[in-house]
Order: sequence, then C-alpha cells, then structure tokens
Amino acid sequence: MPRELLKLGAVLIGIGDASGKGLWRDPAVPLDASVDIDWYVKQAREAEEAKFDFVFIVDSQYITPDFPNHHLNRLEPLTLLSAVAAATSRIGLVATISTTYSEPFDIARRLASLDLISRGRAGWNIVTSQDPGTAGNFSGSRHGDYETRYRRATESVEVVQGLWHSYEEDAFTRDRTAARFLDPAKLHRLDHRGEFFSVTGPLNIQRSPQGQPPLVQAGTSPQGRELSARYADIAFSFARTPQESLDLANDIRARAEAVGRDPAELLFIPALSVTIADTDEEARAIERARTSDGDIRTALANLSRQFAGHDFNAYDLDAPFPDIVLPEAAGISRFHEEIDHAKREGASLRQVLETQVATWLRIAGSPGTIADTLEHWYESGAADGFNLFVQHPADWDRFRADVLPILVGRGLYRDEYTAETLRGNLGLPPVANQHMRDDRTAAAFA
Ligand SMILES: Cc1cc2nc3c(=O)[nH]c(=O)nc-3n(C[C@H](O)[C@H](O)[C@H](O)COP(=O)(O)O)c2cc1C
Repeated sequence: MPRELLKLGAVLIGIGDASGKGLWRDPAVPLDASVDIDWYVKQAREAEEAKFDFVFIVDSQYITPDFPNHHLNRLEPLTLLSAVAAATSRIGLVATISTTYSEPFDIARRLASLDLISRGRAGWNIVTSQDPGTAGNFSGSRHGDYETRYRRATESVEVVQGLWHSYEEDAFTRDRTAARFLDPAKLHRLDHRGEFFSVTGPLNIQRSPQGQPPLVQAGTSPQGRELSARYADIAFSFARTPQESLDLANDIRARAEAVGRDPAELLFIPALSVTIADTDEEARAIERARTSDGDIRTALANLSRQFAGHDFNAYDLDAPFPDIVLPEAAGISRFHEEIDHAKREGASLRQVLETQVATWLRIAGSPGTIADTLEHWYESGAADGFNLFVQHPADWDRFRADVLPILVGRGLYRDEYTAETLRGNLGLPPVANQHMRDDRTAAAFA
C-alpha cells in the first residue's frame, strides 16, 4: 500500500485577509482581487501546478460597512468556481453554501452542475451562517438558534444527497435509432416530506461524475460535530494546537462510529496561515510588523460581528470585559467559550482582542520550520492535511517554491495528481447510487 499523503487546500480570499487586519494596504496585494476573476484563476492555476487538492471559497450573505474589506465586495462562490473550473483541469473546487438560506433543490442542482462543468472536482462546505443579520436579506426568514439551524442543515444534506440519486448512472440511453432518450425506470423521485422541506424531485440533471461531491463541515459545537460525524467527508477547523485538533478528531470519529460509519473515512483539515522568510527571526519580525498594522477599530468591528452587531466602541479598553450577553444564535461556539473564560478571569476588552489574533494555526518561520511543524501535526495524527489561507502573495509563492519541495522530499506530499476527481485525489471512497444493484455500481466506478 502506498503511504497516505497529507492533503492541501488553498483558501482564496481576494485581498488577502480573512480577519480584516491591515494586510490589504500592502502594495503587493491587488486592491480589486476579491472581484477579479483573473486573480482567482491565477491563484487556482498556481495551486494546481503545486498539486494542491483543492481551492476553497468562503462566503456569507450579510455585511455592514465594518466587515472585513474582502466581505464588502466579493464574487459569489459557485459563479466564481464555474469560471475557475473552465480554466483548470485537476484541482478540486470547494464552494461554501448555507443550508439556512438556500433550498436543497438549488444546492443539489448547482453543485451537480459544478461537478459536471469541472468533470468531477466539486466540493461543498456546508454552513449554517454565523451572522443573524442574514435573515434580513431573505424575505421573512428567521435566523434560528443553533439547534434549529443544525436540524435544518441535517435535513438539507439528506435531501441534497437524495436528489443526487435521482438518476442511475446509465439512465440516459440517448438512442436515436430506438427514439429513446431516457430509461424512465432509472429515474427516481424523492418524495421528501420533512420538518423544513417538501421536495418531490427528481433533480433535472444527470448523476455527476463524483455522484456525491465531497461534503465539508467546519462547525465545532456539539451540533456541528454531529453533522460532521453523520455526513462529512472532511472536517475543517480552526484548531490552534495538535492536541486541540486531535481531541476534535477523536470526538467526531467516536460520533461517526456511533452512527455506523467507518471513522477512517473522515479527513481532518485545520486552517493554516504562514509567514515565511529565510530565518525564523526574520519571519517573526515580518509577522509582528503586519499584526501591529491592524488597527483597534478593525479588531472591535470583528468582535462586534461575533456579538451580532453589538457596538464596542464606547467601552474602556482596559476595564474588565463588559458584562453583555452573547446572542445564543450568533457566532462560533468556541468563541462563546473563550468569552466566558475571559469574563471569569477578569480579562480586559483589550486582552480579549489580543487573544483573537491567534484564532488558528499561524506559523512564522523559515521553510524548514514550517515543514517541520506541518510534519509534526501530520505524524502525530492531529491533521490529515491543511487548509492554507492565501494571504500575502510573497508567502504564497514561498510556500509553493520552498516548503512544498521539502514535504515532497520527505515523502509527505505528492508531486503528481493520482486521480481524475477530487474524491479520488483525497482517497475518499466512491458513493454508490442507492438505486443500482452492486454489480452495476461497481462497473460504473471501474
Ligand atoms: C476553515 C473554516 C471555514 C469556514 N467558512 C465559513 C464560511 O465560508 N461561511 C460561514 O458562514 N461559516 C464558515 N465557517 C464557520 C463554520 O461553518 C461554523 O458556522 C462556525 O464554526 C460556527 O459553528 P460552531 O459554533 O458549530 O463551530 C468556517 C469555519 C472554518 C473552520
């Protein structure tokens, strides 16, 4: 058996900064990158040349003027990735779609379309949306608390999966002589009636190359973990230490086993940021300069987003963290826990803002130091791979030019794609059509 290799995703976030610090003011960062398809195509081609498994597009559907600059003006993921699909041939294309603000029929159709357009390279990051304000953009929708949003997500995934089984592999006979385009016996209606959705089906697009594009889930609340355990192929996370990542993986794997899944089928891919220089000291100096560039107003705006828009500007930065109640429906569960902890410890607002800088694995160092850290996480079982946020162009270039060759040299990363589809490259098992007998399914995947 060839050794399993680590997986790599590239998170393409336009003007370079997911958390809204000052990076966009760096002259090396193109100011219109978030709406420039040429920029995305260039980055995706570079990722493909470096044999990344996938590029990944994050998304949301609500802003205020204080949101990070990339959020204010960005392309919609499926539209963007359709264009990228036509300009690339091997790299996976993972799109974020919210189950809270989409109908499952649309989700199933759009992802099947992307999977056909890309010839088997689509993936879906399932999110329930963090921002309660999103409801205001969707005609009378209610954001819903965690329980409701994740229940809806669960039903949505089941409906989407069901719709992807509408057509058997060989349903389209396309036989001119016999004047028979379709074998209707191989077309299956869903007839779903549930708590949130009524969907008759079938889907109006054939079974796509992957049958089921890989499903990704990033929530780490108990509800998010359960959703991953039941349905996800990949769990993304913002784990900061190998132990945190391992604990998450062990918990989700145990939940997966409890619902009868093989836990080895799940991949754990934490987020990663890098600052790369010839020496560790130089890299740390660059990192320090960039971090201090972020202004306090931006940090307060990010905090405000987690508190569903609460205005923090009037508070004394050095007084204990204000005693305000976090809206239950908003934000990220880990953040709720951190705020509770900060309040118990009597931390100031400024101290809380400082801890928010280290929200995921960030490594500043030489190429060797970065490779060593990734190898340590991988070999200790804490991660099956990494989701690299593409931030400063210089770090992106050096990661590909200087870090990847070290990983390839150590036998940790491949220098060629091994399969045609994203599912294949990730080493995920094929998903059989539920209406086909085993022998025909096996033949279709041969
Ligand atoms: C790498 C990564 C990417 C994410 N991308 C998105 C996104 O694009 N849109 C979104 O609404 N939430 C995104 N999230 C947030 C999660 O999907 C989830 O909503 C959040 O973690 C809150 O859920 P939780 O409390 O269960 O963790 C992302 C999380 C991670 C770790």
